[in-house]
Amino acid sequence: MKTEFSVVIAGGGSTFTPGIVMMLLENQDRFPIRKLKFYDNFASRQETIAEACKILLKERAPHIEFSYTTDPEEAFTDVDFCMAHIRAGLYAMREQDEKIPLRHGCVGQETCGAGGMAYGLRSIPAVIEMIDYMEKYSPNAWMLNYSNPAAIVAEACRVMRPNSKVLNICDMPIGIETRIAEILGYEDRKQFDIMYYGLNHFGWWKEFKDAKTGEDLMPRIKEYIKDNGYLPPSVLSGAQHTDESWKETFIKVRDVYALDPDTIPNTYLKYYMYPDYVVEHSNKEFTRANEVMEGREAEVFTECHRIIANGTASDTTIEVEEHASYIVDLATAIAFNTKERMLLIVPNNGAISNFDPTAMVEIPCIVDNTGAKPLQIGEIPEFQKGMMSQQVSVEKLVVKAHVEQSKQRLWQALTLSATIPSASVAKDILEDLLEANKEFWVEMK
Ligand code: NAD
Ligand code: G6P
Ligand code: MN
Repeated sequence: MKTEFSVVIAGGGSTFTPGIVMMLLENQDRFPIRKLKFYDNFASRQETIAEACKILLKERAPHIEFSYTTDPEEAFTDVDFCMAHIRAGLYAMREQDEKIPLRHGCVGQETCGAGGMAYGLRSIPAVIEMIDYMEKYSPNAWMLNYSNPAAIVAEACRVMRPNSKVLNICDMPIGIETRIAEILGYEDRKQFDIMYYGLNHFGWWKEFKDAKTGEDLMPRIKEYIKDNGYLPPSVLSGAQHTDESWKETFIKVRDVYALDPDTIPNTYLKYYMYPDYVVEHSNKEFTRANEVMEGREAEVFTECHRIIANGTASDTTIEVEEHASYIVDLATAIAFNTKERMLLIVPNNGAISNFDPTAMVEIPCIVDNTGAKPLQIGEIPEFQKGMMSQQVSVEKLVVKAHVEQSKQRLWQALTLSATIPSASVAKDILEDLLEANKEFWVEMK
């Protein structure tokens, strides 16, 4: 058994890369790294992040062999894990994903509704290309993918690369569980035993227990969220999910919860349950992409330039993405067969007994050195089943649109989305998205 690993971070130029490097350094005791590479297709963007990380790594872990490249062969040769977080089309296209649907009076969001579909059609070829590189140059490697929109990417993996060693994961449930820990006065989300089911960015907790005592924590959580949503009593530390727009999302959980008080919801459901509210509360000129470009992206790049200019990262303000340690949990589970229980996006295959076996669902799995083994969920209620059926068909149709190069399928997907009111609005959005995504999407007939 290997004890030290070679990792490539794909999307080396991502705003999350420095925080993830810090997190990997914090976790060297349980997931030791011998070689770390960055891979990106945007050389100059990656160079800034990589040159800063090179300084950081030299100071804090000189034994790790570090390099960065835009050459797939160099990147994917001699690799055990690929941690993938790419954004095909960068923030400029995220801005289009958000603004185009908004212009037509519909939800404009990175992963939900029309914007999510547009992003999905950009991500599919990019992620599949990376899987192929990985399999060509390191056939035994695993890809831990959190490139979005994870639901559509996961469905594309199921359809196009069913036997590839790819695990798709999302940090939103983890982020919410961390908030709930804070709300209930627990130190760590790992003190909970939970049952969760749904699609990616589209799910519900049906059980929430104290892992030690077995106490049912649902009543306490419900009592709190009916008034406060997931806004914790004190300010959470860490940089992610703390902007004002995220606060609004966490408060809106009150109304999402009200619709089904038997479960507690993922924040993203607001886009499907309250699309009219979301549109009314969106600024069509300045969306989340603008906020991120002016905020996180500017801050991360300024800090990297500062490290490079000073030649040291000893006083860096880059924070450890502590919540991102789930990536290490996942890698460790595969590398050391820990059988950790984690939420992953996997083929349903009967786990939700009254739901499409071919749907990609987000459910608890046991992870070992062979991959993910989903737990049985059993039957889900009519309300969730109905919402999920509609949404999973949207996701499947987007992947069909790519595979069949079919505009018709994409029009159907858009029309079926709970975020779009009619086929005619769907058609108008479709034409604008096609125009904006010409250089990224497969050619559509
Ligand atoms: P970013 O734009 O800062 O970084 C993405 C990087 O990917 C860029 O440097 C870009 O050049 C690179 N890239 C784009 N296409 C590529 C390709 N074909 N090959 C190689 N590299 C490519 O974006 P970010 O905000 O840091 O987010 C990165 C990704 O992580 C996004 O997909 C985002 O949605 C995702 N994300 C997912 C989760 C989750 O819960 N699953 C959480 C956070 C972020
Ligand atoms: C959550 C989701 C991710 C998404 C991110 C967006 O973490 O799980 O899938 O990418 O939010 O955050 P941002 O700060 O870029 O809007
Ligand atoms: Mn996510």
